[in-house]
Amino acid sequence: MRRMFIAGNWKMHTDRVSAVALAESLADQSTSLGHVDLAICPPFVYLDAVARAIAGSELAVGAQNMYHEDSGAYTGEVSAAMLLDVGCKYVILGHSERRHLLGETDEMVNRKLLAAHRAGLAPIVCVGELLEQREAGQTLEVIRTQFEGSLAGLSDEQMARTVIAYEPVWAIGTGKVATPDQAQEVHADLRKIIAGRYNEQLAEKVVIQYGGSVKPDNAAELLGRPDIDGALVGGAALKAESFLGIVAGAKA
Ligand code: PGA
Repeated sequence: MRRMFIAGNWKMHTDRVSAVALAESLADQSTSLGHVDLAICPPFVYLDAVARAIAGSELAVGAQNMYHEDSGAYTGEVSAAMLLDVGCKYVILGHSERRHLLGETDEMVNRKLLAAHRAGLAPIVCVGELLEQREAGQTLEVIRTQFEGSLAGLSDEQMARTVIAYEPVWAIGTGKVATPDQAQEVHADLRKIIAGRYNEQLAEKVVIQYGGSVKPDNAAELLGRPDIDGALVGGAALKAESFLGIVAGAKA
């Protein structure tokens, strides 16, 4: 049985004081949510303070990116070991903003993914099509290519521990959420791709989040679909009330 997993991606928002206050408020209010795994992903510079603020709570901390090398002369980069050192459990990889604004390729995402697994971080790998790709009927092909490139070379065990976030690029930060049917269709396709590469049993274990304009008022319907196992939340994760409103939509 897959557990629901809801993660907040704070992107390049907050400051030290508001990051700690948001983390504390979430930690205080998320005590009785045993059926859902929760994570918050603040900017790198606040990871340490946020991890301390939520220590002992139901929440876990994740980073929004990392570099694939263990250490060395890589100015400005952060390794998996450093993320573990400041209390991270998760790392988001291949977010569409990194792919499309910062030029990350499937190959780069794949190197990071393998390094995250080697270090013992739990990765959340994002995939998703552009609007023109959806309109051209290329969604499945794009998702398959991203899966095959970004998630290449994983053992069965690593695949089972990899969270996938399906985030249609046209739905991120736009208020245009994919319909539950549209999301469910891609999630089911992803599970078929995993079953084809590995096997059915393994495919049933992989947690697949939906991301893109998830809000308290659309969460329950999305999360009620059989292959949607949680959410990767951007804008609505920046307020405790709306993040917890989404969490409340997760089926028990
Ligand atoms: P959004 O962002 O919820 O603001 O659309 C989602 C994401 O980018 O992970």
